[in-house]
Amino acid sequence: MQLLKDRIRKDGKIKAGNVLKVDSFLNHQMDTDLFVEIGKEFKRRFADCEINKILTIEASGIGIACVVAQQFHVPVVFAKKTQTKNIAGDVYTSKVESYTHGRVYDIIVSKEFLGKGDKVLLIDDFLANGKALEGLAAVVEESGAELVGAGIVIEKGFQVGGDIIRSKGIRLESLAIVDSMDEETGTIVFRGDE
Ligand code: G4P
Ligand code: NA
Ligand code: NA
Repeated sequence: MQLLKDRIRKDGKIKAGNVLKVDSFLNHQMDTDLFVEIGKEFKRRFADCEINKILTIEASGIGIACVVAQQFHVPVVFAKKTQTKNIAGDVYTSKVESYTHGRVYDIIVSKEFLGKGDKVLLIDDFLANGKALEGLAAVVEESGAELVGAGIVIEKGFQVGGDIIRSKGIRLESLAIVDSMDEETGTIVFRGDE
């Protein structure tokens, strides 16, 4: 998605440890005009799919998931992160290990909002090591719902997440795939642009 790649080049900041900061338009302050275009692009890419629910994970996936859902006219469910030891009640759960944050947390989704017969599109802002997306896919599987695909705004192509998700046979659409970043020069190489 050219508009997105241009914006990342213009306003993205490359930080130590291969971290791409996009706080001015995606992760902290949010550009809602850009969000609407992102929603339309996911609608275009998954136009051939029957989808009745969007599933994402708090916190930063929620805004994007809402604009995508608005294009499909379906509800959004967001998985909640918790560190509670004993998870009670009628919920699906999965463990997610965050390398970036160096911690493990459980994600939960109420059985009331996901189950057999649902056709689910996963949406998230970033794909790095793929743990969050794997956790969401596990929840969908546990629920008996059908996983239609996954949509990611920015995939870090030099980390393992994209390969893991694609190798599971999950249809993955990433609007911008960063293949490399150079902190010194500020250069960003996107897949397909070489
Ligand atoms: P993974 O889910 O792909 O395995 O990602 P990982 O654990 O490595 O990353 C942890 C968090 O950091 C995730 O957000 C992920 O979206 C985000 N992240 C990873 N790399 C980058 C990056 O280069 N730039 C930015 N801006 N974010 C990155 P999270 O823990 O789900 O937190 P939240 O922000 O959604 O609350
Ligand atoms: Na994030
Ligand atoms: Na996220």
